[in-house]
Amino acid sequence: MKTSIAIIGIGNLGSALLKGIVSSGEFKEAAIYATKRQSVTEQKKGYILTNNIEAVKKAQVVILAVQPGQLHGLAEEIKDYITEKHTIVSTLTGVSIDKLKSFFGQNLAIIRAMPNTATAVNESMTCIASNGNAKPSKAIAEKIFSTVGATLEIDESLMQAATVLGASGVAFWLRIIRAAMQGGIQMGFDAPESLAIVAQVCKGASSLLQQAHKHPEAEIDRVTTPKGCTITGLNEMEHAGLSSALIKGLLASYDKINEIRDEVV
Ligand SMILES: NC(=O)c1ccc[n+]([C@@H]2O[C@H](COP(=O)([O-])OP(=O)(O)OC[C@H]3O[C@@H](n4cnc5c(N)ncnc54)[C@H](OP(=O)(O)O)[C@@H]3O)[C@@H](O)[C@H]2O)c1
Repeated sequence: MKTSIAIIGIGNLGSALLKGIVSSGEFKEAAIYATKRQSVTEQKKGYILTNNIEAVKKAQVVILAVQPGQLHGLAEEIKDYITEKHTIVSTLTGVSIDKLKSFFGQNLAIIRAMPNTATAVNESMTCIASNGNAKPSKAIAEKIFSTVGATLEIDESLMQAATVLGASGVAFWLRIIRAAMQGGIQMGFDAPESLAIVAQVCKGASSLLQQAHKHPEAEIDRVTTPKGCTITGLNEMEHAGLSSALIKGLLASYDKINEIRDEVV
């Protein structure tokens, strides 16, 4: 794809994106620039690790991958160099398109993307929302985030929910995995064995939904023999509030993100 992309901020997310974009082969013809505030000693072949203004001037797509609290300073630095030829792609949690417009310009093409930490292993779920001006560049954003996992286009009004379900979701599932691991250890497996079993079982359960397009409850029915051990265990978990605890946790997280939305920048 012929385009030019600047990633501003190559921390956890920015560097995973850079790696995804470069290794996917989809952007062989693109010019890619990546910037970082400190320790820019490296001059990688093919990209210029340089200052923000230089990167912005050269790029059509500017991906913001700094912390929300760093946006003010960054905007002050680059806003005069952002023009209507640019598309801004923001990964910043809790920063609305309206807020970004107030920093960079009202008529800009602005896209918000909410990936998760599994970008590091190309297994992110990235929810993408955009304003009307961004229509022509939506496909580029989808292609960029497809290099690090799956994407889903959503309405911006669902961005907070996407943050809870898709980004915080990684932590929720990891805690469930850890709990299952502890159960495995109590039954006699050592920790690495228990983790190997639980992680693969999770992956398999997920693949039944994603690859075989099964409904979760239909797959549960296939495992629950009448009077058997699976239904006994499942019902015990439900008596202890498994589904309810998950839904309540998600909604508490959603309430919290809505409460802190306007405090992030
Ligand atoms: N990590 C994820 O998977 C994930 C998921 C969803 C959303 N997000 C969002 O993505 C953003 C980045 O997250 P992260 O985890 O990658 O954070 P991070 O590891 O702290 O990375 C931020 C990077 O931005 C750089 N930076 C700060 N100010 C800069 C400036 N003025 N110019 C150039 N670079 C600058 C920092 O460089 P220095 O070290 O040189 O200061 C650092 O490398 C956040 O807004 C977060 O909400 C991240």
